[in-house]
Amino acid sequence: MSEEPSESRRSALKVLIGLGSAAVGAVLALPGVSYVVDPLLRSAGKRERWVPVADLEGLSEEHPVAVPVVDEQTDAWTTDPAVRLGVVWLRKKGEKVHALTAECPHLGCKVDYQREDKHFACPCHESKFTPEGDVRGGPAPRGLDPLDTRVVDGKVEVRFARFRAQVAERVEIG
Ligand code: FES
Repeated sequence: MSEEPSESRRSALKVLIGLGSAAVGAVLALPGVSYVVDPLLRSAGKRERWVPVADLEGLSEEHPVAVPVVDEQTDAWTTDPAVRLGVVWLRKKGEKVHALTAECPHLGCKVDYQREDKHFACPCHESKFTPEGDVRGGPAPRGLDPLDTRVVDGKVEVRFARFRAQVAERVEIG
């Protein structure tokens, strides 16, 4: 009699055992994969978050006002409920609000507003900006970065974002 049927049964069994092992391995790996990927997906979803930063009533049409942006932040695998993300300059324009990040687009120092001369000034390398955020002098490669704003029940909210420094084009990085 031939040994072939027994050989082919053994081969089929090996294939089945291999497939079974692969399936069990995949099932066991799923929690680990989701543990690694989940924070990345959640942080990607944060891009559209709006952060309340001030009361519309407290803002001026004449001079910008600096306010901190504080919000929950998920950093890798932990969540902090109140992290200072940055500072924005707000200026009322009728019922709307103009917002600029306080981060200088040269190297990221915080810009101040000079009321007497009506311009923003960076203390690090002396870049200057108009009240609208356009470059007036110094090494800054572009103007201050504007942020989207909206007013909800008298509260001003900004869509906070950061932008790449040292480049002329405005590139949002998170
Ligand atoms: S960081 Fe503002 S001019 Fe250099």
